[in-house]
Amino acid sequence: MTGNRFWRLDRHPQGNSDFARYLSLCEEVPTPLASGEVRIAAEWLSMDAGTRMWMSPRTDGYQPPLPLGAKMVGLVLGRVSETRDPAFPVGTLVRGFGQWAEQAVVMPALAGLEAVDESVADPRQHFGALGMNAWTAYVGVREVAAVRPGEWLAVSAAAGATGSLACQVGRNLGARVVGIAGGPEKCRFLREELGLDMAIDYRGEDVEARLATCEGGIGAFFDNVGGAILDAVLPNMAHYGRVAICGMVAGYDGDVPLPGPARFDQILMRRLRVEGFFIPDFLERGAEFLPQLRAWLDAGKLTMRFDETQGIENVLIAYERMLTGRNIGKVVVRI
Ligand SMILES: NC(=O)c1ccc[n+]([C@@H]2O[C@H](COP(=O)([O-])OP(=O)(O)OC[C@H]3O[C@@H](n4cnc5c(N)ncnc54)[C@H](OP(=O)(O)O)[C@@H]3O)[C@@H](O)[C@H]2O)c1
Repeated sequence: MTGNRFWRLDRHPQGNSDFARYLSLCEEVPTPLASGEVRIAAEWLSMDAGTRMWMSPRTDGYQPPLPLGAKMVGLVLGRVSETRDPAFPVGTLVRGFGQWAEQAVVMPALAGLEAVDESVADPRQHFGALGMNAWTAYVGVREVAAVRPGEWLAVSAAAGATGSLACQVGRNLGARVVGIAGGPEKCRFLREELGLDMAIDYRGEDVEARLATCEGGIGAFFDNVGGAILDAVLPNMAHYGRVAICGMVAGYDGDVPLPGPARFDQILMRRLRVEGFFIPDFLERGAEFLPQLRAWLDAGKLTMRFDETQGIENVLIAYERMLTGRNIGKVVVRI
């Protein structure tokens, strides 16, 4: 067996750049599997904004912080290369929470490991229209934000992986959709490729003023960002609107939580329901979501752009691209 290259977290990062100062590429001789473990030859790694928080020392997040010296964790798609679990024979194409490594070793139940459909033409869709971001978008828009046909759905970080899927789920469910994203290219993508009703460039436009033009107010808000964007949306919510708190990417690089929201008063004034949700709580319902997501994918109603980087040695470049907003769609690394 060849050596296994992996990324190790050495220090807690500051900010969202120069990650090479905090993580290092290491190589190990693979150790024998323990009973029940599975080794996966990684073909693709998923870059997920939420994992940035696991690198910080904060203990009040939804996951405990990753210990210094540990392999960096992340979603992996690849083939089982060695197994001590008969449910996952060698050669099976699987996806689950593994490591940023050429060979991930996982305990299937802890990793949420599952065999994925080999008939999907582009395997990256297991991180795209059929992946965790899509499940997040589906649960968040349909159940947490409970969007209704005809009302306005606002989505922040709308041109990223989760956001672009949330926009499309809302559009497919009959909502009018406004996406909030950074820069004119992303806004063009949202309007022209995803067919949204409105796109707002939060870097160059007054988000609060533009949202005020949405007739009837925003019925449902799928928030990936928090901070200033949440503050711009709250005063524009319709009465009895629903806010699905999906992520707070504006604050993941800090060692202390973002303050706010400054417009907390609007939750009372507009009788809003605000609810956080975390997709690992819904993993067992994946089989329930997949047929609808697959039907939309096959019908061209759920698409994903991929922002692809090659090679385990370039993982940090891909990760930084995502956290600094240089991506449109899903950031993946081909191993
Ligand atoms: N609740 C859950 O279970 C769950 C599951 C998956 C993902 N999420 C959340 O979904 C969000 C998106 O994650 P993702 O993995 O799909 O990444 P992504 O959206 O593909 O990439 C992150 C995007 O965040 C935006 N961003 C970064 N810093 C920002 C800032 N300070 N203000 C505003 N926007 C900023 C950037 O877009 P711009 O150029 O537009 O700024 C960037 O493209 C994250 O908050 C993540 O935690 C939650």
